Amino acid sequence: MGRRLNHDIPGSDRRVTAEQVEEKGWPALFGPALASAPLVVEIGFGRGEFLVDLATQAPDVAHLGVEYSTKRALKLARRVARLPLENLRLLRARGESVVEDLLCATSVATFWINFPDPWPKKRHLRRRLIQPRLVALLANRLIPGGSLHVATDHEGYAEQIDAVLAAEPQLDNVYAPDPWRSQVSERLPTAYELEWRAEGRPLHFWHYCRREQP
Ligand SMILES: C[S@@+](CC[C@H](N)C(=O)[O-])C[C@H]1O[C@@H](n2cnc3c(N)ncnc32)[C@H](O)[C@@H]1O
Repeated sequence: MGRRLNHDIPGSDRRVTAEQVEEKGWPALFGPALASAPLVVEIGFGRGEFLVDLATQAPDVAHLGVEYSTKRALKLARRVARLPLENLRLLRARGESVVEDLLCATSVATFWINFPDPWPKKRHLRRRLIQPRLVALLANRLIPGGSLHVATDHEGYAEQIDAVLAAEPQLDNVYAPDPWRSQVSERLPTAYELEWRAEGRPLHFWHYCRREQP
């Protein structure tokens, strides 16, 4: 029999629900000290170490982690419960619905999408997160000059990501004339990145920003 998940949160519960966001709004959920702080959102935080590092390094910035896996969201909620991260909230949900329904236009300073599931089989391609509709919504949610970071190790997905990002008229490529970079020294590593790098897989990193003028 597999190990049962421990649902107790040993300290502050940093999780929020979609219903709470709809009812109270982000400023209330982050509290008065961060009510007008910039908002950074990571979609698909996995084990969450990247998000925790980001939030630890920038206590004056509000951080939201969105993760579809119940198990991963619970595990991170348990791990951060005893950390003094007043600036971190976790939401167990699909990134697509959070971007569409729970984030307002020009409200997000930075989006991070690190190593989204590549769905390599042809019949599963439509499950990939990076699609024109989502990227248009992400661009709309960014403040002017705000950043969208995406990374993948998967060559086929890299082609799709590159084409979709380059075609979005609200975004500019910060790495131009390079379409993407294989190494970005100032980035914090994610768990998957460390694994794939150790295996020698080619990595791809994009950094786009929202145009100042539409
Ligand atoms: C390959 S893992 C990468 C995890 C982490 N970003 C990293 O780089 O180590 C992809 C993660 O995205 C989550 N995920 C997949 N589809 C999602 C979606 N539509 N919305 C939010 N999270 C999603 C998965 O549950 C998984 O934790």
